[in-house]
Amino acid sequence: MPASAFVAKLNEQIANEFSAHQQYVACAVYFDGETLPQLAGFFYRQAMEERDHAMMMVQYLLDTDEQVTIPGVSAPVTTFADVVAPVELALDQEKRVTAQINELAGVARSENDFTSEQFMQWFIKEQVEEVATMSDLLRVAERSRDDLHDIEDYIAREQSGEGEDPTAPRAAGAGG
Ligand SMILES: [Fe+2]
Ligand SMILES: [Fe+2]
Repeated sequence: MPASAFVAKLNEQIANEFSAHQQYVACAVYFDGETLPQLAGFFYRQAMEERDHAMMMVQYLLDTDEQVTIPGVSAPVTTFADVVAPVELALDQEKRVTAQINELAGVARSENDFTSEQFMQWFIKEQVEEVATMSDLLRVAERSRDDLHDIEDYIAREQSGEGEDPTAPRAAGAGG
């Protein structure tokens, strides 16, 4: 049985992950409008990952017979000063989510809820990757201000999407 303090916090995190999804859709649409298809594709994929994170958390609560509340989502930022701004925002978002995930693991631990603590381990590892990916992308974006071909090429070369992660928790609705 997950600790009730953990269940409450995980429900909050489901809202945070859906907000992250919505924010990345907004970034993707902005890049699509600027005719930067690689950046747009990158953020559309990133958005799907955030939705998956939310649905993995939903599945965990379903599996453990706990209350799950599908939240409303706060409005994303949709206007950006330049093409670097959405990437800056994305890196900030990933850093914030990392703190949230660590806090969740901390609640599980302090409640002696070892099952939930173990559930959070995958997300901890995932956040290391997400922050690293966005830091790299921001560095390339700042360098590419004058020639956006560079960042489009970089994404096509280095960030064309990853395969399935067999260690990922199951997402609600994904079958299996
Ligand atoms: Fe996430
Ligand atoms: Fe993320």
